[in-house]
Amino acid sequence: MKPPIRIGIIGMGGFAGSHHNAVAKLEERGHAKLLCTCDPRASAFTAEQQAWRFPARGVSVFHDYRPMLDACARDLDLLVIPTPIQLHAEMHAAATALGLPTYLEKPPTLDHAELERMIAADQRARKSSLVGFNFIIEKQRLALKERLLAGEFGPLTGTTLSALWARPASYFQRNDWAGRLLIDDRPVLDSCFGNAMAHFVHNLLFWAGETELYSWARLTAVRAELYRAHTIEGADTFFVEADTATSVNMRFALSHACAGPATHHETVICEKAAIHYAVGKHIEIRWRDGRVERSTPDAFDPLEENHLDYYRYLRGESARPSTTLADSRPFVALNDLAHISSGRILPIPPAFVTGQRDEKEQKDYLNVAGMNSAIENFLTQGSWPGAHGWGRERSEVTTLADLPRFEATVRAMAAR
Ligand SMILES: NC(=O)c1ccc[n+]([C@@H]2O[C@H](COP(=O)([O-])OP(=O)(O)OC[C@H]3O[C@@H](n4cnc5c(N)ncnc54)[C@H](O)[C@@H]3O)[C@@H](O)[C@H]2O)c1
Repeated sequence: MKPPIRIGIIGMGGFAGSHHNAVAKLEERGHAKLLCTCDPRASAFTAEQQAWRFPARGVSVFHDYRPMLDACARDLDLLVIPTPIQLHAEMHAAATALGLPTYLEKPPTLDHAELERMIAADQRARKSSLVGFNFIIEKQRLALKERLLAGEFGPLTGTTLSALWARPASYFQRNDWAGRLLIDDRPVLDSCFGNAMAHFVHNLLFWAGETELYSWARLTAVRAELYRAHTIEGADTFFVEADTATSVNMRFALSHACAGPATHHETVICEKAAIHYAVGKHIEIRWRDGRVERSTPDAFDPLEENHLDYYRYLRGESARPSTTLADSRPFVALNDLAHISSGRILPIPPAFVTGQRDEKEQKDYLNVAGMNSAIENFLTQGSWPGAHGWGRERSEVTTLADLPRFEATVRAMAAR
């Protein structure tokens, strides 16, 4: 048995709690050993600390990550950073300054300039950091990408993503950064695109990366319309179109302003077949000649599997983490260019928005009438909601050369 990977985790609540659960299970199986953790509100997690058996496992608890790193960094193989997005860069910088690689939750940042600083900082670590985009390691996804690269489906021409995850009003009040564009005058940009459903956006960019297995789309042009139905600073609904250096047309439609069960569908359109991939649900390949291949993605615990995959890399058993900071460049640029292109976040016309109370959950949702057809029309015909009822002017076509306008655009958006 190999020695367990020695771990520190920043945070105990929110998604940090899920990392604690995963690491506790991996520790039972001998893969991991949690040495330390911290949270500014550590005493608020007394019950969790009991459930995770910290005293029996010998876990040291701190109130801040800096004294934790001072005391423990030399004994750690890995630091997990599942904290609010706006804290990622400083925590990653503190770890990598000590040579320590990190499991950094997605999104690494939503600011392209900050990402470049993080990529530079990561060079100081003994090994590359992992960005926790959950679904790149799925076996069926990797196998399909191999077949795509081998040319079995013919040239890739387009990809689409439709992702609808209803979120109640209380979701945007769960912490001080939900739905925010700026915090302490710095870009945060929390949204369905940049945060909750970022996995699927990054997945789509992965399908369109044509240089090698672990490659992501090279963007040449981005256009977007951003909207909100909820009373938040940022957007809760995104319509985004991108073109790539290999002439792939990508369309993304995502929203939290909806009701009903969550849906997410990735489609990869090639000359000979279209691949329909729904994480956790089904995979279907529809060949133009009428054949259909169907399968179900393997049951999959994303956190445990991503931890194990990263441990293999840290032990030298695999060549790379599934997503590095540099691999996140297309995702962050796409998010930033979508904001620049849209220029403004428009309210969805109130006539389309109705409130829906879920009595069982005791939660209030907003539903946008015609959302499904707006998405369908955009994904299949490229017709934008702004020109078809949602009342906005044509947005700007942007390129990577527009990224320097990002910060000023976000400030202007937040000031409206
Ligand atoms: N991979 C996934 O499926 C997934 C799912 C949910 C969230 N996330 C990501 O996880 C990250 C955290 O999201 P969240 O919703 O759990 O956030 P959150 O606001 O609930 O914070 C998470 C934890 O960070 C702690 N924290 C806050 N400030 C801290 C500080 N200064 N020092 C130490 N700890 C501090 C909080 O106490 C909490 O324990 C985000 O990047 C989010 O996108 C990933």
